[in-house]
Amino acid sequence: MSVIKVAILGFGTVGEGVYRTIQSHAEEFTAVLGKKVEVAAILIKNKQKKREVREDVLLTSDFEEILELPQLDVVIEAIVDKEPTFTYLKKAIGRGCHIITANKEMFAHYGKELLELAKVNNVSVGYEATVAGGIPVIQTLRQLLKINRVSLIQGILNGTSNFILTEMREKKQSFAESLQQAQENGYAEADPTNDIEGFDAFYKAMILSRIAFGEEPDWQDVERQGITSITSELITAAEKLELRFKHVASISREGGRVVAAVKPVLVGNENPFYHVEGVENAVNVHSDIVGRITLQGPGAGMFPTASAMIEDLVYVCQSRSGERNIVKNTVEISETSKGEQKE
Ligand code: HSE
Repeated sequence: MSVIKVAILGFGTVGEGVYRTIQSHAEEFTAVLGKKVEVAAILIKNKQKKREVREDVLLTSDFEEILELPQLDVVIEAIVDKEPTFTYLKKAIGRGCHIITANKEMFAHYGKELLELAKVNNVSVGYEATVAGGIPVIQTLRQLLKINRVSLIQGILNGTSNFILTEMREKKQSFAESLQQAQENGYAEADPTNDIEGFDAFYKAMILSRIAFGEEPDWQDVERQGITSITSELITAAEKLELRFKHVASISREGGRVVAAVKPVLVGNENPFYHVEGVENAVNVHSDIVGRITLQGPGAGMFPTASAMIEDLVYVCQSRSGERNIVKNTVEISETSKGEQKE
């Protein structure tokens, strides 16, 4: 049986979740793809740290070493920051690999460029994990709403912020205690500024905007506020009025222009977002044929994010470019194994 060889960049919460899921769901991959999926390499920072991975997996802190593997079909990226991530992914595409990313900051900045580069190189890009954790919102918009005209998207897009607001209200915990809990649970970014100041939700909103409307508003025109101004006193006062604070991103087309805002809002019991609690995210999509659809589920954490990346792994391998590329790659490998040097 032919094999799909995968490299994972990063072995933090998300990278480890992806690795473990590929092991635990090997049978499902084979049944769906008709091929085995094997993790060939993992890019790590510290080679001394002990990790629970198979012995035949290359653990390296040198990305070039991964690129030189004789067979490499998919690069799954689970690291932070725009660079060197963008450079790595461009190189991976140039090497003929499909790429999958969870990095919303990088993708909001460079997604368009990566998608164009992938098209030229006949490979696919999976970025489901960049928005709303395990909720398949991108696949829903991209695959299932091709004819509907979307007019408005509203979403609770940052799991950490929703978790903090919930903990502060339910457990009367302080902001700092709730944030620490979110970090311990693996929800928050390495630098949680992006979560609590609304940047993370902003990047996700811009990615959704491009899918739903084909364009983004001018970033300067988007109102962006985080949750740092929401004190325990404000939460208690709101609760007395049967209201809850929710951190909501909204993107809509108004008079031919796309407009967006990311900020805390007060919602009542009649609003579906009122009941979205903890690390959950939710996305309302309003469109002309179907009306309103609400998608809700875990917005952060090891396995929800791994789920999105793993489903993307199937998506890229089954895409037309995926089929062509992996078949081609396998042929090249068999020639290599006959003694020919590849690249
Ligand atoms: N820090 C992010 C969040 C992770 O809390 O939503 C998932 O994108």
